[in-house]
Amino acid sequence: MSQMVYGFWVSRALHVMAELGIADIIGDVPKTVEELAKATGAHAPALRRLLRLLSGVGVLVKDEQTQGFGLTELGMMVRKDSPGSVYWLLMSQGHHLSWKAWGELKFSVQSGQPTLEKIMGDSFFGYLSKHPEEGALFNESMAAYQNLNAPAVVAAYDFSKAKSVMDLGGGTGTLLAHILQAHSQTKGALFELPHVHDGAVARMAELGLGARTKVVAGDFFEQIPSGHDIYILSQILHDWDDERCVKLLSNVRAAMSPDSKLLIVETVLPGDNQPHFGNLYDVAMMVLVGGRERTGPEYTALVEKAGLRVNRVSPTTMPPSVVEVVPA
Ligand SMILES: C[S@@+](CC[C@H](N)C(=O)[O-])C[C@H]1O[C@@H](n2cnc3c(N)ncnc32)[C@H](O)[C@@H]1O
Repeated sequence: MSQMVYGFWVSRALHVMAELGIADIIGDVPKTVEELAKATGAHAPALRRLLRLLSGVGVLVKDEQTQGFGLTELGMMVRKDSPGSVYWLLMSQGHHLSWKAWGELKFSVQSGQPTLEKIMGDSFFGYLSKHPEEGALFNESMAAYQNLNAPAVVAAYDFSKAKSVMDLGGGTGTLLAHILQAHSQTKGALFELPHVHDGAVARMAELGLGARTKVVAGDFFEQIPSGHDIYILSQILHDWDDERCVKLLSNVRAAMSPDSKLLIVETVLPGDNQPHFGNLYDVAMMVLVGGRERTGPEYTALVEKAGLRVNRVSPTTMPPSVVEVVPA
């Protein structure tokens, strides 16, 4: 119980560790408090106390001989450059808007409304489009989350026959990049809001996938380009209420040929009260954007309203499942 009561203290400590760049400064060579204080501009005695807390939760380890603090396997994940890095997740969860949003949880529970819109005076994606720094932070955190999950998605679904895959609302292209890297014959397309377009083009070029990827700016509630074998909605439907989802799914249906597939990549709730990561994410969606996670039957009912049907659900080794949807 204590761990839960005081849980956000640990989350905050990890966020400050990331913000000060402590994991990157330590790198592979343990550093003393004095070295870290000098490199970060921190108050050495106060930093010593933060490092002691972080050692207590298994992120750092102290060598009593050299007095140096090194990274444990968990701590390595806070480095920006580590595979499966959680650096950007910590930076976005620790951002003052996340704290404010969760601070208003009671408002959401009492009203059923998201808190962020009230705090920012704008829709979530509208706000990000007008605040490039926060927009970039959101995209990086999505990419970090996707880097943890995408290998499991690629392993769980057979993309080998797809000539062309369009990722709708695909951020800066992390999931698409994992698919293209595993399937050299496949061409990719990203459909994103205009403010994400340039970042996506740059990221795909950085990954050497620029020539195989077309980035299209647009609004998926308006119209979706046709001509792709596979359409993906990864962590998209959970942002929206049922009415918006049906509108979006109907637009995907209109773009699909009879042989196209739609893959919904989402955490599918078991629908009972068993512990499940999706139940946590579900409340996050309620607070942040007014969306929700859904059960298998809820996805079935949703897609049927848009002239589609669920063909099969493939679980992955990570939280998301791949729900394959075809024209009804
Ligand atoms: C929760 S993120 C998911 C990103 C990515 N699919 C993933 O799984 O990491 C939602 C994405 O949808 C995009 N988006 C939101 N509204 C959109 C719209 N109307 N048209 C196109 N993209 C949109 C956002 O810019 C954002 O990148």
